[in-house]
Amino acid sequence: MEALVRIEQALDMAVSHAEAAGAPPQLAEAIRYSVFPGGARIRPRLCLAVASACGDDEPDLSSAAAASLELIHCASLVHDDLPCFDDAETRRGRPSVHRAFGEPLAVLAGDGLIVLAFETLARAGACAPSRLASLVLTLGRAVGMPAGIVAGQGWESEPRVSVSDYHRAKTGALFTAATVSGAVAAGADPGPWRALGERLGEAYQVADDLRDAVAAEEELGKPVGCDARLGRPSTVRELGVHGTVERLSGLVAGAVAAVPDCQGSDQLKALVMSEAKRLVPKKLADRAAA
Ligand code: IPE
Ligand code: IPE
Ligand code: MG
Repeated sequence: MEALVRIEQALDMAVSHAEAAGAPPQLAEAIRYSVFPGGARIRPRLCLAVASACGDDEPDLSSAAAASLELIHCASLVHDDLPCFDDAETRRGRPSVHRAFGEPLAVLAGDGLIVLAFETLARAGACAPSRLASLVLTLGRAVGMPAGIVAGQGWESEPRVSVSDYHRAKTGALFTAATVSGAVAAGADPGPWRALGERLGEAYQVADDLRDAVAAEEELGKPVGCDARLGRPSTVRELGVHGTVERLSGLVAGAVAAVPDCQGSDQLKALVMSEAKRLVPKKLADRAAA
């Protein structure tokens, strides 16, 4: 089955559990709204691409791992858009969750999605219990303290922060979890896959900073200019637009070089390159260069 179909099915199955009889209907609706329709689904795609390169001998487990990463990502977006963080009115081309459902339900939808991610892993882990502990630990590290998404958002409240620590925690951690989980779910050694996740995560956030500075809201489906407006540490603020473009192309080359030698390596390299083009299409790169 094609990766994107597996991802949507696994997410639908996970979200259906949250909607079972007895659930408060509006919160259940807010949870579904937070996950569907999705964005690029890049983290679960990366997870499945690595699992596939490692043999993918337990596809139900790798699908669940992929879905759990996306549920966490969706939760992070819901919370990130709240008035107490980025105060964003739109996400994925429509009202952000707190705009559509109100703040209390948005906070709870994010909380519910985080818990649902771990439940999703636990449910699928019965088929391979020896891999489950490692998957739970990997996801927990990517989400919490001291260096997961929670820590990344926490850095926004500190008087001093290095851009790379901020990016590594806010975005890099979940990308690293994506490559590591793909290998673990397939019973492979995750060691060789870590660097790919780290480099891709860094490239992704640098590209996001560039887009925030030079793209238009209609192109992204979310507000732009947030980093400058909120005084966030950003690559553009540190290196300027041209410096950021150069840094990004170095990071993309580094991510391609970090793909380990394996059967699926060509496909993985193509995935990295196509993501780089999707994030910063030629039109945007030309605008940045101008
Ligand atoms: C946006 O992530 C937030 C960042 C960490 C850069 P994505 O660009 O992957 O968002 P969606 O899932 O495609 O909407
Ligand atoms: C995204 O960070 C959210 C997290 C990773 C927690 P940003 O604020 O940089 O990304 P967008 O622009 O809202 O998608
Ligand atoms: Mg934001």
